[in-house]
Parts: sequence; structure tokens; C-alpha cells
Amino acid sequence: MRHLIGLLLGTEEDWPSAFETVLRRLGPIKGVGEFDVERVTIEPFDLRAEPRHALVIDRLAYWYYHPREWLKKISMMDDVYLLNSPFTFQSMEKHAAYCAMMRLGLKVPETVLVPYKNPPDNARYAYTAARYNQPFDLDEVAERIGYPLFMKPYDGGAWRGVSLVRDKDELHRAYDASGEMLMHLQQAIQGYDAFARSLSIGAETMVMRFRPEEPMHARYAVDHGFLSPAAGEEVVTIGRLVNAFFRWEFNSCETLIKGAGVHPIDYANACPDVALTSLHYYFPWAIKTLVKWCVFCVATRRRPRIDLETHDYFAVTGTYEERLAEYRKLADRYFETERYDEFCQTHLGHLDDVVLEWVAGPEFDRLLVDTVKTTYPENEHDQFVEHFRGLLRLWVKDQG
Ligand SMILES: Nc1ncnc2c1ncn2[C@@H]1O[C@H](COP(=O)(O)OP(=O)(O)OP(=O)(O)O)[C@@H](O)[C@H]1O
Ligand SMILES: [Mg+2]
Repeated sequence: MRHLIGLLLGTEEDWPSAFETVLRRLGPIKGVGEFDVERVTIEPFDLRAEPRHALVIDRLAYWYYHPREWLKKISMMDDVYLLNSPFTFQSMEKHAAYCAMMRLGLKVPETVLVPYKNPPDNARYAYTAARYNQPFDLDEVAERIGYPLFMKPYDGGAWRGVSLVRDKDELHRAYDASGEMLMHLQQAIQGYDAFARSLSIGAETMVMRFRPEEPMHARYAVDHGFLSPAAGEEVVTIGRLVNAFFRWEFNSCETLIKGAGVHPIDYANACPDVALTSLHYYFPWAIKTLVKWCVFCVATRRRPRIDLETHDYFAVTGTYEERLAEYRKLADRYFETERYDEFCQTHLGHLDDVVLEWVAGPEFDRLLVDTVKTTYPENEHDQFVEHFRGLLRLWVKDQG
């Protein structure tokens, strides 16, 4: 039996070629069959044509709409498994996630959505606004939340339009600059003890210490004990909950930890950063987990699900801790966590060795060098090759 995994890609080269290499090196899987990977090309498609793919990993549809419509077609008509489904991402962005998480009792900071600074381009606007738009006092809204606060687009992504607002002046400057973007004002969590960015792929989550003030290559710190076990579990649960709730299977989530409080501030990343030059030490984990989750979904014929069943989550009662435990059960049920772990043990026991041998060998080193050469200016090549080599050697050593 052969299974085809499609990659729908934009400009990335590092993780796709890593993914292709690891699947090739993994070879046929007993009781499951062989996996082929193919990069999806863009061309006219018949809505009734049968796709050849069992699963597609999408990194493109968030801005390129022709392939987005192809994804909807193969999911709706042919049950092709998607990471992630555009049905869940186009309708549910950061704002929807804030709402859901607030209703579920998570500690999302106070957030207000304000109307557009500049009107949307529509002939009906003037009449509608004159009749129905209430004048509002931006200063009063900000004072209610309290300074400092963050002003950021309701749908977020890539720090576009995000600003820290410390006073009235900055508030008006930021709002004037927001133009046609729709903005949230959000209470800032100040003086937090830790910033955790977790990357989730299916039933697995890697919680990493994040330093937003650093340049891209140094944002993730290699640090295994920066959270207490309890806070670590809470962060994992929150990430898994958000993902299971919205049926997102490849996503990152940001939480700020202050004292005993874990505050989620950012999720709904349809195309989470998995660049070798960002993840470095954690890159082999990401590739391995992506391979495992894809193989698991195809091998067990996991059914794509876009029905959200939100009321199962909303019906949960009890204290914060009791609800978290129940949410975790619901999320683990959605991700079939137990079945996934068992599957990986039975069928993918050799993957760890395959990836270790690959990362320690010359093929990975070539990928690293090529990635650095396409990412940084020439005078920085040597420095960054050594930087990332060091981090990946550390990963290899830690595996032993
Ligand atoms: N409520 C908050 N309290 C403290 N810091 C915040 C808050 N909201 C945002 N930030 C800071 O601003 C950064 C960008 O905000 P946010 O993550 O919401 O935007 P984004 O555009 O989705 O970013 P990206 O997609 O790059 O993760 C965060 O990483 C964090 O450092
Ligand atoms: Mg963010």
C-alpha cells in the first residue's frame, strides 16, 4: 500500500526537505505501507476530480486563495486529511479564540475590540455609519483597561500592527496608524516570570522558553526547566485545548506566566514558524513529530472533523483546576492521544534512531548550511553555521 502526502508550500525549503528526507529514510512501515511525499502544484482543477493524496500539509492557503479553494474541495468531497483545515482557520481567528477561551474560564487578559479607524471601502458605509455608529471615547476605553496595554489586529500574525501603548499620546498615534486594520486593545501582562511559546503538532506539544525581544535566531532558548511541572502541564493543556476546540492540528500558542497565573495571549497561527533557523535545537523534534502525526492520521484513517461540538466544552463545570482536567480529557479524546502513543510505539519505534542518525550526519549538515546561506547575508554565514551546528550537536548529545 502506498500513501501520498502533499505539501502545499510557499517559499520554505528547510523543513519540507527535512520532512521528505526523514520519510524516505524511515522506509516502509509494517502493517501500514509506504509513504511518498509530493509538492502540490497550482493548476486548474475539476471540482469532481479525485485527488491522489491521503493528507496535505498546508503552508500557503492563508494568503493564496486558489489552493485554499482546492483544499476545501478535497476536504469536503474526498475526506483528504488536512493540517490545517481552512474551514477552521478562515472562520476562527485570534478574536474567536479569545472569546472561546474566556468562556472556558482561561485567564485571557481584558480585551476590547474598537471600530475601524478608517472606514471600510464600501459605498454603503457613510449612510450606515451616520445612522448607527456610536461616537466613542477611545481614552475612556483605554483607561478602563489601564496602561500599559497592547493594541493589535483582531486576527494577528507576524507582529503586524502590534504596539505597546503606555499613555494617551501613544494610544492615539497607534489608533491613527491602524488605518483599515481592526484592532483589539488588550491589557498588558507586565513583569511576567516566563514567556512560553508552545508548538503543537497533533497530540504532541513542545513548550519552549521564548524571548520576544531577541532577534529571530535567538528567540527560542534551550531551557528544559523554566516552568514548574504544574505550570508546564497547564501550558500544555491550554495549547491542546485551543487546538482541539478549533480542530487546529499544527499551531503555536503563546502564554505569559506570572506567579500562579498562566495567561494565554496568542493562538490561531495557521502557518506556525518551523524554520530551522528559528527552532534550531527543537527542529528535529518538530520534523519527527510532523512525520509521526501524518503517518498516524493516514495509517489509522483518522477522520477529518470540522464539526466543533463546542458545547461539550462549555458544559464542563467545577473549579479552574477541575475544568482544566476535564478540558484536557476532551482534548486528548479529540487527538486520540493514547491511541497515537501506542501507534508510535508499535509502528514508529525506529524513527528516533533514523532522525538521530540523520541529524548527526552530513545530509543534515548540508541542509543547515544551505538554509543559513539562503537566510542570512554572506558576511554572517560562518557565524550562523557555527551557531546552529552547536545547538544541533547539543541536541544529538542530549539524545544519548
Ligand atoms: N497582553 C499582552 N501582554 C504582554 N505582552 C503582550 C500582550 N499581547 C502581546 N504582547 C507582546 O507582543 C507580541 C506580539 O503580540 P501577538 O503575539 O499577540 O501578535 P502576533 O502578530 O500574533 O505575533 P506572532 O504571530 O509573531 O506571534 C507578543 O509576542 C508579546 O511579546
Ligand atoms: Mg505572537
